[in-house]
Amino acid sequence: MTRIRCDRTAAWAALQNCFNTDARNFDLRTAFANDPERFARLSQAAPHVFADLSKNLLDTPTEALLLELARECGLEEHRAALFAGAAINTTEQRAVMHWLLRFPALALADIEHSAIKLVAAELQQVHQTLDAMLAYAHTVRSDAAITDIVNIGIGGSDLGPQMAVLALDAFAIPGKRFHFVSNVDGHELASTLSRLKPESTLFLIASKTFTTIETMTNARSAKAWFAAQGGTDIARHFAALTTNVEAAKAFGISTTFGFWDWVGGRYSLWSAIGLPLAIAIGQQGFRDFLAGAHAMDEHFRTAPPAANLPVRLGLLDVWYRNFHGFGSRSIAPYHSALKRWPAYLQQLEMESNGKRVDAAGAALPFSTSPVLWGEPGTNGQHAYFQMLHQGTEVVPVEFVAVKKPRHDLVAHHPLLLANVLAQAQALMAGKTDAGGHKHFPGNRPSTFLLLDELNPTSLGALIALQEHRVFVSGSLWGINSFDQWGVELGKVLAMDVANRLASGDVAGLDGSTAGLLARLRS
Ligand code: F6P
Repeated sequence: MTRIRCDRTAAWAALQNCFNTDARNFDLRTAFANDPERFARLSQAAPHVFADLSKNLLDTPTEALLLELARECGLEEHRAALFAGAAINTTEQRAVMHWLLRFPALALADIEHSAIKLVAAELQQVHQTLDAMLAYAHTVRSDAAITDIVNIGIGGSDLGPQMAVLALDAFAIPGKRFHFVSNVDGHELASTLSRLKPESTLFLIASKTFTTIETMTNARSAKAWFAAQGGTDIARHFAALTTNVEAAKAFGISTTFGFWDWVGGRYSLWSAIGLPLAIAIGQQGFRDFLAGAHAMDEHFRTAPPAANLPVRLGLLDVWYRNFHGFGSRSIAPYHSALKRWPAYLQQLEMESNGKRVDAAGAALPFSTSPVLWGEPGTNGQHAYFQMLHQGTEVVPVEFVAVKKPRHDLVAHHPLLLANVLAQAQALMAGKTDAGGHKHFPGNRPSTFLLLDELNPTSLGALIALQEHRVFVSGSLWGINSFDQWGVELGKVLAMDVANRLASGDVAGLDGSTAGLLARLRS
């Protein structure tokens, strides 16, 4: 597989030229006025997700150049390597196969996608573990005595399950409460424990490595609390979700569900890390969730780039970051259950693509991951949309809206939909007949992702869409989207500082850290 970094291609220079001569002055209002087919040409149906890209600063010739860029960079070869289980996480020498976790259990003879045959053994293990985990989820669901499920994990071992359990709350089994403890800040665990009884609580210790300091500290405190409250049956009240089953056993947990080093933490929701979700929505719900993601995998794997939604979104991301120079993207889910969607995407995209060197370790001369941020609509409208409409920075917005609600409060949903449409419209159209404070420049881009309804299948597809679009931009940037060395330094320093906090030794510390440490100890 040959990967060519985007800035070393002819298309990159052509795009720069296109931007400088023409595209920098692109105007959405003119584009719509000149082209009645714009919506049709710049929208894309994908499994369970419809995307309107037409309110973006992009036209067909630019998209053609971006597609040419993808071709020169070897995107299709890189995608084939992903789906062949090649070790594309090159700094850790690991395959990247979260997509295999949602691949259906097929007999080898029935598998048409030939690359899968190479990972048939892994596929078998995936389904053995999945079946065991779903059977366990079923037991927990049927156990009326267990009312509280506490997931202790951080990063990918928290954000995915938490986001999805909240998102699918309408499908969750009644009578069970789900808690997510991630922070090493004891306030979080203490306030959670204060609402629990040991006999009705199940702790899920979720950690790919089973070494993460926050999770291990919380897990130890939870275990101590359980014992102090008279709890004895660890096998019934604790389960571990980890690739490090040995460490979980050493910790004293015998109920374990494993996964593999070819599943990145931020891509692990589909593995045993998804157990809280499986308990919430049940076996069939979880299988539907996997099926939705698989449908998106197949779309990404097989659709031609020009009609491939993750590809089109990833190319747009490169266009905005590297040519328009937009430094952030605002995530605006118009569904209150998607509260944690922005936080989930922050890890997915910023931990994957927040890199400053290419896969060969050479410093990059261009920008990579934007900052992602946001809140559910309509709340964001009454907080920071002022800046989106009239601030000095252009921030592309990514809306998510759902056609059918799952409540019967008839007055609400039409208003919610009216608001999301109106915001996208206002960003684009602006208001140029008034001056000064009442002037809206408009021409502010947005993408509109539309689901028929928010259910396990569509959520699975929506998440897989985001995973693959991050792959696409990372692929063009020539980076390794699957490692996260950037989080290591802080972890190492925290251990050193913890020792110094205990001893008071400030020798060799910078003046600020030493000063703060002394104040904290005084
Ligand atoms: O610190 C970053 C990170 O490694 C994430 O990538 C990961 O999701 C998180 O920590 C938690 O790791 P673990 O699941 O091993 O506890």
